[in-house]
Amino acid sequence: MKTGLAHQHLLGIRGLSAKEITHILDTAESFREISEREIKKVPALRGRTIINLFFEPSTRTRTSFEIAGKRLSADVINVSSSSSSVSKGETLLDTARNLEAMAPDLIVIRHPSAGTPHQLARICRASIVNAGDGAHEHPTQALLDALTIRQHKSRIEGLRVAILGDILHSRVARSNAHLLTTLGANVAVAGPGTLAPPEFAALVQRGGGELRVEQRIEDALTGADVVMVLRIQRERQDAAFFPSLREYAVHYGLNLKRLSLAAPDAIVMHPGPMNRGIEIASDVADGARSLILDQVSNGIAVRMAVLYLLAGGTGTAATPPSSSSTAQSVPEDDTLKNARGYERVHGS
Ligand code: CP
Repeated sequence: MKTGLAHQHLLGIRGLSAKEITHILDTAESFREISEREIKKVPALRGRTIINLFFEPSTRTRTSFEIAGKRLSADVINVSSSSSSVSKGETLLDTARNLEAMAPDLIVIRHPSAGTPHQLARICRASIVNAGDGAHEHPTQALLDALTIRQHKSRIEGLRVAILGDILHSRVARSNAHLLTTLGANVAVAGPGTLAPPEFAALVQRGGGELRVEQRIEDALTGADVVMVLRIQRERQDAAFFPSLREYAVHYGLNLKRLSLAAPDAIVMHPGPMNRGIEIASDVADGARSLILDQVSNGIAVRMAVLYLLAGGTGTAATPPSSSSTAQSVPEDDTLKNARGYERVHGS
């Protein structure tokens, strides 16, 4: 399929240039207004079919991909692991081949295993969108985070961004680290030593910005313009990475006292779902500097932009995408090799 991006699929942020990321964000900006209309629909993807294939729980991502597709007038079908024949023993690749036989234009997939979207991209003609694969990447989350930062700070280049918490298991941290450094932000990550290993700095792409791993959460926070808090991902932790949730909250949770170390106009973000009172205190999550629900709203505009561009749109909401379609080969993605190597060493 001919797309409005240089790629047939969106498998990760790594591999996207600063220009491509900015193009997606600019397109998302033009789609934001549609969600403020009384009739929230444009005909841009009329006649196109999108399958949302979710093998992990999701509230924000699944719902906003569905809303995004529907606001673009696409036909949207949702398939979950419990409602698919995977629960009867069918392999994921056989499921994908069967869905592909129904000629969808786009398949959005979330899966607990890193690399699953890449496997689908090798066998499907449809464009594949990674909606989160294990601890590897969550590209649309990083894009919606960037859109939110840009709206409130008017830029990304030169900003100081602190990413706090469970870095090791976080696909959000990995995608954000790629995106923010590519656009020239300076990123500091921090968490318990077991969850924020020094090797993380070597894993991410360096663009104009730098990435450093801080030993103390306070050092990452000092002077930060943007504070991103990550969820403790208990479902991906097969070992004890910290003594107890109570101790985690005391030593690493973002509370008002710790937030006072950041710049006076610092903004607070969290991809959700939040563990209130553990990684983030309620008075911070609900405070005036919190943009957590803005992130959710921007998720729709970003996903509309991604679906539209992959379906062949060229960047304006008013112009329906081209109906021409050209299969493209999938370039070998070394992010995955890196992530696999990382996961071999650290677990996923
Ligand atoms: N941020 C995020 O991916 O949330 P969901 O798991 O609810 O989709």
